[in-house]
Amino acid sequence: MPDSQDTISSPRPASAGATIAGAAAGTDSPAVEFRDIDIAYGKFVAVRDFSLSIRKGSFVTLLGPSGCGKTTILRSIAGLVDISGGQIMIDGRRVDDVPIYKRNIGLVFQSYALFPHKNVFDNVAFGLKYRNVPKPEIVRRVGKALEMVRLPGTEKKLPSQLSGGQQQRIALARAIVFEPQVLLLDEPLSALDANMREEMRVEIKKIQKETGITAIFVTHDQEEALSMSDRIVVMNAGRVEQIGTPQEVYETPATAFVADFLGKANMLAGTVSRSSGPTAVTLAAGQTVNVVAPKPLAQGGKVTVVVRPQKLSVGAAGANRLSGRVVSASYLGGSAIYEIDIGGGMTIRANTPISGRVFREGEAIEVGFDPEGCVLLDEGGQRIS
Ligand SMILES: Nc1ncnc2c1ncn2[C@@H]1O[C@H](COP(=O)(O)OP(=O)(O)O)[C@@H](O)[C@H]1O
Ligand SMILES: [Mg+2]
Repeated sequence: MPDSQDTISSPRPASAGATIAGAAAGTDSPAVEFRDIDIAYGKFVAVRDFSLSIRKGSFVTLLGPSGCGKTTILRSIAGLVDISGGQIMIDGRRVDDVPIYKRNIGLVFQSYALFPHKNVFDNVAFGLKYRNVPKPEIVRRVGKALEMVRLPGTEKKLPSQLSGGQQQRIALARAIVFEPQVLLLDEPLSALDANMREEMRVEIKKIQKETGITAIFVTHDQEEALSMSDRIVVMNAGRVEQIGTPQEVYETPATAFVADFLGKANMLAGTVSRSSGPTAVTLAAGQTVNVVAPKPLAQGGKVTVVVRPQKLSVGAAGANRLSGRVVSASYLGGSAIYEIDIGGGMTIRANTPISGRVFREGEAIEVGFDPEGCVLLDEGGQRIS
């Protein structure tokens, strides 16, 4: 049974939140809850029917292509954009009527957005001064936040004296220094180079765990989402496609969109050629493969067999064999990626550990996969369950 939080919540009467908001606040409340929110820019609806419940202390990522509404959702929590329908609750209290300056939220953006002429101390202290914290307490907390982001002693430096990664750490320190209820991170790593990005992934995750802060992270990078998140919300065109753990969304994508967006997936179109014991699908390329169907499927029905490249291996004893010719081969040290032409205009991708030799372009090859290693989608692109 999945947790009740961090999943799409069932609709509730609109009045419930308003009348019991005070009573509902407390340790058991989700850190953030969206109830059927809609957000429009003029006539354009950017987010539709968005519902999500985020457990305290968890790290949730909104993942989706550019323009799908991720930033808009973050902005709605911070009060930077109005919602046109639904409710947002923070710690069990409605926030749609709370002005921005009273929302206790930390923000980190793609651009570091540090004050260029203020030193690190003043940049980090900003949220504390604003909240009238006494000076000695400010000094102590800024020092602690800088230690958190592993830049102790940099109080007197100017942003221009720091690298991009360091500036982003300062931005993070500034966002966590006043112990916000929620930390919002909008593509905070996208301006960094690849090495720094990976380092910061680990760093941000560590700080989030150490502080126990609830984080909502936005990215269009699937690897970032998979490696950092407790839960991922996959979005497409203003709507939720799937919510789940990284493993759930990667291994059992709910839709063709999710399968395709989360890394390379082989999407093999075919027709159900045997409806039971075991179910078999004949691919458009002609081969027949066995699959695990969660329910009996009508013979002749059109389905798509989704197989991740990592589930296809050379020389493995998988129940399904696909043979073809290597179109391209990339040697990656411990593994190799092959694009394989299996006929009928179908190319599949295999990411397989090296066992024995590396195949070359033009060579005949056979790859196998287990029936358990695939997911079936119906004609509408929805997972058959
Ligand atoms: N201020 C605005 N006025 C009009 N349309 C906007 C505005 N901000 C964003 N949009 C549109 O809303 C949609 C979602 O944008 P956004 O939330 O920024 O997406 P994402 O962060 O996922 O890239 C996009 O189609 C974008 O063009
Ligand atoms: Mg954005």
